[in-house]
Amino acid sequence: MRAVVAQGTGGPEVLSVAEVPDPQAGPGEVVVRVAAAGLNRADLLQRMGFYPPPPGASDVIGMECSGTVAEVGEGVTQWAVGDEVCCLLAGGGYAELVAVPAGQVMPVPDGVDLVTAAALPEVAATVWSNVFMVAGLRPDETFLVHGGAGGIGTFAIQLAHALGARVATTGGTAEKLEFCRSLGADVTIDYREQDFVEVLREATDGHGADVILDNMGAKYLARNVDALATEGRLVVIGMQGGTKAELDLGALLKKRGAVVATSLRARPVEGKSAICAGVVEHVWPLVAEQKVRPIVHQVLALDDVAAAHELMGSGAHTGKILLTP
Ligand SMILES: NC(=O)c1ccc[n+]([C@@H]2O[C@H](COP(=O)([O-])OP(=O)(O)OC[C@H]3O[C@@H](n4cnc5c(N)ncnc54)[C@H](OP(=O)(O)O)[C@@H]3O)[C@@H](O)[C@H]2O)c1
Repeated sequence: MRAVVAQGTGGPEVLSVAEVPDPQAGPGEVVVRVAAAGLNRADLLQRMGFYPPPPGASDVIGMECSGTVAEVGEGVTQWAVGDEVCCLLAGGGYAELVAVPAGQVMPVPDGVDLVTAAALPEVAATVWSNVFMVAGLRPDETFLVHGGAGGIGTFAIQLAHALGARVATTGGTAEKLEFCRSLGADVTIDYREQDFVEVLREATDGHGADVILDNMGAKYLARNVDALATEGRLVVIGMQGGTKAELDLGALLKKRGAVVATSLRARPVEGKSAICAGVVEHVWPLVAEQKVRPIVHQVLALDDVAAAHELMGSGAHTGKILLTP
């Protein structure tokens, strides 16, 4: 098959497409013929050598895809050759074929075309698992998501809004924030010009955020704790602003707050399968009702993988970038 390979680590130019051996479906796995693969910010880190694949995972980059089941491994009963699916992967998505544990395979939600479905698995699994399973966001609560115009952000705004929460978000340009409003954000904050703690406090009559989904890590830790409401929950999923910062436990204690940091990729198959089952049960119906929709910035050919990484690195995108083999 054709797949993206990396000549060492470095910039987008290390990526190219080459012939590699086809993957086989092991016990409990299926092989999917890829219709499209989604880009994730972590793919850029993997390319640079900072985020190696977990043990046993393909060294081909790519943590999500859509496609058609091409082979069914021993013991798999829920999928058949020809099924149209989308998948959460530990790796291997930037390719024509990928092997994936059956529990990480999901049906394509009603009303979504096969290529576009590649925009869904990572964002749906990340947002559902962190904002709802971990932080337990409730309908009457205030939710702050940083980077509302990104892949994760565009989905988080829509899902929290659809489930009845009040949504605040940060973004880097007026245009992006306008788009976030169109997705259901009630409060938008320009992180280049405004202090999100101040704006949020003002917009919520001093209450703050019951749940924060954070992509920045160290840089925002103190301000995120400051922005939390009493009994607020901060979930850190990204470290775009560094990994080490001081946590004022006194400030957290006064609020009876919680800080959690999670990652999806390195979890055992059972954990990821449980998240996928939750997504299919709770999120896919909202996608089918078009209350939550996949946001695709651009679809590029697999051969243009370097340009796709360049685009994500530039931050000029809104929503997801996809590759079609
Ligand atoms: N832990 C996990 O399991 C997990 C899973 C998936 C993703 N993630 C993480 O989630 C984050 C988003 O991923 P993605 O795939 O959605 O990437 P993406 O589409 O590239 O989004 C990145 C976002 O970061 C925002 N940003 C940049 N600087 C910012 C700042 N100073 N303050 C607030 N926001 C800022 C950007 O906003 P503008 O475009 O408006 O500048 C953009 O919306 C990444 O850090 C990724 O590693 C974690």
